[in-house]
Amino acid sequence: MAKVLHPFAGFRPATVIETPRFFGQNTQTGTKGTSVIELENVAYSYGGGELFSELNLTLAPGSFHFLTGPSGAGKTTLLKLCYGELIATSGQVRLFGADARAMDRDGIAMARQRIGVVHQDCQFLDHLPLAENVALPLSVAGRLSEAAGNLGDLLAWVGLSEQAAQLPPQLSGGERQRAALARAVIMSPDVIIADEPTGNIDWEMSQRLLTLLVELNRMGKAVLVATHDMNLIRAAKAQVQARVLRLKGRRLQAAGADL
Ligand SMILES: Nc1ncnc2c1ncn2[C@@H]1O[C@H](COP(=O)(O)OP(=O)(O)O)[C@@H](O)[C@H]1O
Ligand SMILES: [Mg+2]
Repeated sequence: MAKVLHPFAGFRPATVIETPRFFGQNTQTGTKGTSVIELENVAYSYGGGELFSELNLTLAPGSFHFLTGPSGAGKTTLLKLCYGELIATSGQVRLFGADARAMDRDGIAMARQRIGVVHQDCQFLDHLPLAENVALPLSVAGRLSEAAGNLGDLLAWVGLSEQAAQLPPQLSGGERQRAALARAVIMSPDVIIADEPTGNIDWEMSQRLLTLLVELNRMGKAVLVATHDMNLIRAAKAQVQARVLRLKGRRLQAAGADL
């Protein structure tokens, strides 16, 4: 059987930032030079009025975007459109060049393997140790054998080596968020989507999580983060070229330079 070099093999963030050797070398093709996720003239409604309309968004490989906007504006909904959880009411969403509406379940599942999602309320299976929770996407995909050496590297990267055997309820908020990020990237996705990942954690932990997101971006991943946290955005802008989008009044706008 061909040996698959998992992107986390020999993972050392400091090295990877300079030489993205392990991470970001996705064997799948089709993203280079094109957009990973594109929304064109998209509207969405849960059945009542339209939450937003005429929405356009292009996530290029390696780009970093923040999504801000008041609570209830539709940030989470927009993220769900971006990872194929919801289908646009009108307009077109393209995931890796393919129309999400035209995809069957397998197509969506394939696209989802290339998108790592950190949900707002990161849920874990409380009876399974942290390490098994993080490896769950691999076991679901029948690729658990790949986890062997690499899971340890990944847990070290998010600073959770010592917590590997702990159960999720024993973890702090910041530890849960980092565990959720580790789980989101274990399939080596091309895109990371995080929904208010620092919503419930303190500033130090927020910065730590941001550092991880920035490292992933430097490895070539596209990153999209919904957040209310203006300090987080400012801190990020000192480290990466991040675009800030604001969802407000049913429209998506580029946020001003006042940030
Ligand atoms: N499953 C749903 N069914 C009906 N309405 C929903 C559903 N999910 C969210 N909404 C409504 O859509 C609006 C936008 O929600 P959401 O995308 O979660 O906004 P945000 O993440 O910006 O706070 C809110 O008014 C919310 O109540
Ligand atoms: Mg939300």
